[in-house]
Amino acid sequence: MYTAMSFQDDHLKLIDQKRLPHEEIWIDCRSLEDVAQSIENMTVRGAPAIATAAAYALVLDTLHSQAANWKQYKDRFFENCKRLQATRPTAVNLFNALHSVRCIADLWTDSTSFDQIQKHILAFAKELELADLSNCKAIGAFGAKLAGGKKLRVMTHCNTGSLATAGYGTALGVIRALHEQGLIEHVYVDETRPYLQGSRLTAFELAAEGIPYSIQIDSAAAYIMKHERVDLVVVGADRIAANGDTANKVGTYSLAIVAKHHNVPFYVAAPRSTFDPKIMHGDQIPIEMRSPKEVLEHAGILVAPARAEARNPSFDVTPSELISGLITEFGVLQKPFGPAIQKLFSQD
Ligand code: MRU
Repeated sequence: MYTAMSFQDDHLKLIDQKRLPHEEIWIDCRSLEDVAQSIENMTVRGAPAIATAAAYALVLDTLHSQAANWKQYKDRFFENCKRLQATRPTAVNLFNALHSVRCIADLWTDSTSFDQIQKHILAFAKELELADLSNCKAIGAFGAKLAGGKKLRVMTHCNTGSLATAGYGTALGVIRALHEQGLIEHVYVDETRPYLQGSRLTAFELAAEGIPYSIQIDSAAAYIMKHERVDLVVVGADRIAANGDTANKVGTYSLAIVAKHHNVPFYVAAPRSTFDPKIMHGDQIPIEMRSPKEVLEHAGILVAPARAEARNPSFDVTPSELISGLITEFGVLQKPFGPAIQKLFSQD
């Protein structure tokens, strides 16, 4: 299984996801800024993977400080958190991870030794990574039960696999778990314009596992649902509001509408760290607008008139009424999502 990153004591190795599938190039990040830029330029992407990379960025920064204690380090630490928060706005896992590490920092006093701080931040990053992996496996196991033992033809969007997480994946984790149980007949992969996470990354992961798949352009999903058998759509998420409205890679919303029209169940798979219960509904989720170049160019070649304008929202919000269920590491949340999400945050 491919991994997005590997921490090596004094640097963080990131597989350059911009170069996949044809080139496997690992980038060595030695500073917090290296990691921040790698998140911004999508060397590492996918909501849970961004959060883990950011946690290791905080670790890297501690390696470059001469501080003796918390009093001497705290301003820099909070500046670091701000820098990481400014990288990408939509996936809440990043903000949740930074909030958790700041809660740990609340327990430090001015005289807490730098040695202790360093150990705590490293332990935090390692735990985040391990927890994400086990959450993905639990999501996969709960999701696979939806099949009821029947072989499925599944459609998915974007990349939600081991490259987008600490390993195994969320929606792709469900597909992986189904495959492990012999329950995947076929996977339909949306190519996922404009960044092509589906054709470049999801197809790459499925091929490595020997899972049968085909790629279609995003706008062919309706045609395929009308003319072929699709039993289930499963996608990931970047932020889920308190009512279940879900921000995910742009194109997810149209896919959900198409699934509804064809009576195909539409599930979202995501760990609790992707929920944002402070946000009441999807309209409040900040949506990243990326460069028009990603739309106007293909492999660096302009494919539109010179000076053409383009809109490039990187995510959209699928209203909760289009979602059949939310697959989490605690089980599958059913409607009404509001109370189910409240309950999710009351258990441990
Ligand atoms: O822009 P990206 O590639 O970071 O967007 C990724 C997605 O939208 C994924 O579907 C989402 O982060 C879930 S990843 C487990």
